[in-house]
Amino acid sequence: MLRDALLALSESSLARRIATDAPFARGVARRFVAGETREDALTAARALNEAAMHVSLDYLGEAVGSQDEARGAAAAIEQVVRSIAREGLDANVSVKLTQLGQDIDDDFLRRTVDGLLDTAAESGTFVRFDMESSDYTEHTLRFFEELWSAGRRGIGVVLQSYLYRTEEDVARANELGARVRLCKGAYKEPERVAYPDKADVDASFVRCMRMLLADGVYPGIATHDEAMIEATKDFAREQGIDRDRFEFQMLYGVRRDVQKRLVGEGYHLRIYVPFGEAWYPYFMRRMAERPANLFFVMDSVIRESPLGFLRRDGRGAAR
Ligand code: FDA
Repeated sequence: MLRDALLALSESSLARRIATDAPFARGVARRFVAGETREDALTAARALNEAAMHVSLDYLGEAVGSQDEARGAAAAIEQVVRSIAREGLDANVSVKLTQLGQDIDDDFLRRTVDGLLDTAAESGTFVRFDMESSDYTEHTLRFFEELWSAGRRGIGVVLQSYLYRTEEDVARANELGARVRLCKGAYKEPERVAYPDKADVDASFVRCMRMLLADGVYPGIATHDEAMIEATKDFAREQGIDRDRFEFQMLYGVRRDVQKRLVGEGYHLRIYVPFGEAWYPYFMRRMAERPANLFFVMDSVIRESPLGFLRRDGRGAAR
């Protein structure tokens, strides 16, 4: 119930305006977002590389309604790609097709993405297309397949285990030889298209993970769920699949204890590092995934606001 309310709020423009105008909200979002500028993101990436973690940088933004906005997002991402190459970072980029004009028209989207992929190819940077709500799944996969059949490489997709269709999509991606990031899925979906129960989402995740490890190309197993992580390690061990043939992926600021442990155990781990001014919907989806985060956030908000004196531990705003 709370999850649904938070996901609904993630799409509300009024709530977005209120939150992004609130002075303390930015500070709170920093728990999950590297910052608002490219330099913030590069600083976070350097620190993660030093800790032996790979990175994927995400310039935050969602569906745009005009060509100018889409071109602006593409230009910003191209600058990120150039910075990665210039600084020799171990990083790639994750992008949302709606940010690049998926809702505008297919020819425009193709031109914008081609421009971005040319820049990425010049600097040898891999580009991952994030997956958004199920309204976009088929379009995103078809668009990806079109790029692939036009000879584009250095690109990958994301598949979400909460959708009933995903095992078939994994087979489709394996057939191409394309790199897949597997995650559970973060959007509010109707029962018509997605498993409503966590147990089924998890079972689907394990089935898809096995297909990807057995037959896929360097899959990214993106989860903080220790049961999913253990299932992946067990399957790799049983099948004699080398640690260099896949990677784990986790979100910036989430389960840093598990992140350190995986790297210590010798697994590849990529951290998804979001940055930019449009942090609100991303931040709200992280709240929805773990409503306990709300208490963490509310505690920070109270601590950093004039109401700090209300905290029961008596340390108030001075902390
Ligand atoms: P689950 O939600 O079952 O959580 C398991 C445990 O992980 C929790 O009990 C808690 O301990 C911890 N945890 C999970 N989320 C947390 C949070 N926000 N804060 C604190 N602790 C948390 N989705 C999508 O639809 N499209 C996409 O393109 C992507 N891309 C993506 C990239 C990467 C690198 C990751 C890790 C995730 C995504 N996602 C995504 C999000 C994904 O679909 C999913 O919503 C979250 O990863 C949460 O699911 P878990 O697998 O972690 O398990």
